[in-house]
Amino acid sequence: MERIKIKKLLASDSEMGRVTVKGWVRTRRDSKGFSFMELNDGSCLGNIQIIADNTLPNYADALSITTGSAISVTGKLIPSPGKGQKWEIHADSVEIVGQAPEDYPLQKKRHSDEFLRKIAHLRSRTNKYGAMFRIRSEMSWAIHNFYREKGFRYLHTPIITGSDCEGAGEMFRVTVLDPVASGKTGKADYAGDFFGQEANLTVSGQLSAEMFALALGDVYTFGPTFRAENSNTSRHVAEFWMVEPEMAFCDLQGNMDHGEELLKYLVTHALEFCSEDMNLFTSFVDKGLQKVLNTLLNETYERINYEDAVDLLLKSGREFEYKVEKGMDLQSEHERFLAEEYFKKPLFLMNYPRGIKPFYMRLNDDGRTVAAVDLLVPRIGEIIGGSQREERLEMLEKRMEEMNLPRENYWWYLDSRRFGSVPHSGFGMGFERLLMLITGVTNIRDVIPFPRTPGSIDF
Ligand code: 4AD
Ligand code: MG
Repeated sequence: MERIKIKKLLASDSEMGRVTVKGWVRTRRDSKGFSFMELNDGSCLGNIQIIADNTLPNYADALSITTGSAISVTGKLIPSPGKGQKWEIHADSVEIVGQAPEDYPLQKKRHSDEFLRKIAHLRSRTNKYGAMFRIRSEMSWAIHNFYREKGFRYLHTPIITGSDCEGAGEMFRVTVLDPVASGKTGKADYAGDFFGQEANLTVSGQLSAEMFALALGDVYTFGPTFRAENSNTSRHVAEFWMVEPEMAFCDLQGNMDHGEELLKYLVTHALEFCSEDMNLFTSFVDKGLQKVLNTLLNETYERINYEDAVDLLLKSGREFEYKVEKGMDLQSEHERFLAEEYFKKPLFLMNYPRGIKPFYMRLNDDGRTVAAVDLLVPRIGEIIGGSQREERLEMLEKRMEEMNLPRENYWWYLDSRRFGSVPHSGFGMGFERLLMLITGVTNIRDVIPFPRTPGSIDF
């Protein structure tokens, strides 16, 4: 018989006759003449209860089924007398597909996140991580839906690149050279390497996206990005996914309008299309989550200048671990103070000092600040980083010179400012930080299937 997914069964309004389900056993308990099993197939949070009675020809086998085993069951779908479940299956055939011996690590009902991180290859078989990765999948679709509805074109920007978009030098090198042999000369020999020049994994698709915004108008890229920054925090991973819209004829205000619309759309989508899985997070992971989500949906996000934010922090009387100083890059404790305690809602911080921002941001008329914007949200801090881009060739060239960026590497980028340059803007939203925000999960390692962090690449 054709297999049916448990999600479909549980949603059924009427009896379906005989059905076949396949999945992994969460628990089994036996009583006189019966064995009861909770079966999950990953299609949804809910399990279906299987009743196997001792008239089954292979009842002895059924009694050997252990937690974690994969089974195939055929039987009649009947209304369940049990509480909290509409249907159950009265089995007429139970077949073991794959046994899980007693050392299957997910025996207990609850395990710590730390323990589950060590078995990341199995953790998606728990309720919490099953829910997390269904939400992750759904939110990816939501991003594409949002942009499709708005007429943006989806762009595949390269993963291997010859330029450092953020100019922070936090890149992973891509090479075919033997690191031992190539070290002999004491000098890097890119001429003998695959691309004939230095190549790295991308930290952002922005520079390529800009080229296409200046052709197709509105574009976005959504893909993996890589950062070799040595920060072992709960908000950083070395490989993460980023959504990057880039819009021609768009200024900083338009950029912020877009960011606010995107975040509100995504929260709405999660609540509407992932309600069962979201309930797990609002009920069990973070009791304050629903309130945060309401704030994200219903408030108008604050927009303030960096310099005013620094004044607020200095006047707050708060002792921060990192002392606040004018001109410094804000730390996540400062960002969270502003979003969580001061404004109690998301805020856009605009117009940062030019010295702490990358070369491509548009210089403001004051000559001191650039048209940068970060979106700060409760619990996370920065979730979006972006800017209006410097579209004036001369200004851009000057800025690159100041920052010692080799023009040869960026000749094509500069070309875009020579041929029909227009004001344009964009930003990057960290997809993992978005998932942390909407689920209340506090460690970024728990929202990505196999996290990569300094000193750790086990899976
Ligand atoms: O602020 P960032 O560095 O901005 C850029 O890369 C721009 N080029 C994007 C653009 O304008 N198209 O990164 C954007 C976002 C951050 O706000 C954060 O949410 C996320 O990417 N992010 C990280 N997420 C997880 N781990 C890391 N190590 C991250 N670094 C940045
Ligand atoms: Mg940033």
